[in-house]
Amino acid sequence: VETLADASKKARKKVGTAPSYGVMASGEEDYLSLLASEFNYITPENVAKWGPLQPVSANEWDFSAFDSMLAVTQDNKQKVKGRALVWHRQAPNFVNEQVDAATLAQMIDNHITTTMQYYAGEIYAWDVVNEVMGDDANYRQSVFYKKLGKSYIADAYISARAADPRAKLFYNDYGIDSINAKSDAVYTMMAELIADGVPIDGIGFQMHLDAASAPSTEEMTANLQRFADLGLSVNISEIDVRISSLSWDDVTNLAIQQQVYHRAVNACMNVRQCDAFTLWGFTDKYTWIDGEFGEDDPLIYDDEYQRKPAYFGVADGLLRI
Ligand code: G3I
Repeated sequence: VETLADASKKARKKVGTAPSYGVMASGEEDYLSLLASEFNYITPENVAKWGPLQPVSANEWDFSAFDSMLAVTQDNKQKVKGRALVWHRQAPNFVNEQVDAATLAQMIDNHITTTMQYYAGEIYAWDVVNEVMGDDANYRQSVFYKKLGKSYIADAYISARAADPRAKLFYNDYGIDSINAKSDAVYTMMAELIADGVPIDGIGFQMHLDAASAPSTEEMTANLQRFADLGLSVNISEIDVRISSLSWDDVTNLAIQQQVYHRAVNACMNVRQCDAFTLWGFTDKYTWIDGEFGEDDPLIYDDEYQRKPAYFGVADGLLRI
């Protein structure tokens, strides 16, 4: 096969990435051509989040950046996952603790309804709520939870289903890549939502991994499978693999990174209901990791757009090699 997109067709899983709108708009050719040829599923890195979509006030939306990105994905015949409609980060400034509960609930419903109706029919899936579970395995003390309790979660999915009945509705979180206290808590939450009849179709596992401590294929598979057994579609939604904590030579570090990618793809391949494998970027030239963790090379293309060993970790996994 020539590309990950080719391999993904054989695997019958979508292969995705999260492009930066800024880099796309700069017109960098290598970036745009790999984006078009290697991937068939696109998640905007930032432009479809609540803050970027409602930058000024509660009754105004700015869809222009996401619209331009969608025009490219339509030329490329790629499916799109919009995100994140409700997240405690990158939310508008008007979403704050001065707002009373009823107004906040109204803002959430308005944002979901307006945005999803505007894009109805164009978006394959939405991450409706993102990262509501804390690292201590209790509900995160966000402005939403403090004002509304956990009811806002079910309500968000109900608003989303009504706004665009064709879109698949996902939950998404980090630190839940294998079986642990936080993934147990998310599992309980998902089981409760389903038992309550809340319209939710699937869950994304971010997998921002450190190569030094990444789980095994077996651990990831077992975890994905238990969520799939709830009747959910599962996907790997934001994977990158940090290597700066490794202390071998470069060749070895990159080979370990290749193995970690391979393990994660294998886990998705092992679970029939795993429908997509999405990278959080694709070139080491542009990655949120550098800003947040310090200089690293967590992706599958290097700064010069050459394929790294990690690329073949993904491709081989999709081809069951
Ligand atoms: O757009 C402004 C720009 O106008 C300003 O000049 C610049 C100065 O700092 O900031 C720009 O905004 C930045 C934005 O990315 C767009 O580049 C924000 O500061 C920065 O915080 C933001 O970071 C994003 C981060 O989410 C915010 O939490 C990352 O790009 C994005 O990769 C990251 O993605 C998240 C997922 O959504 C959820 N899962 C975890 C993942 C990593 O944190």
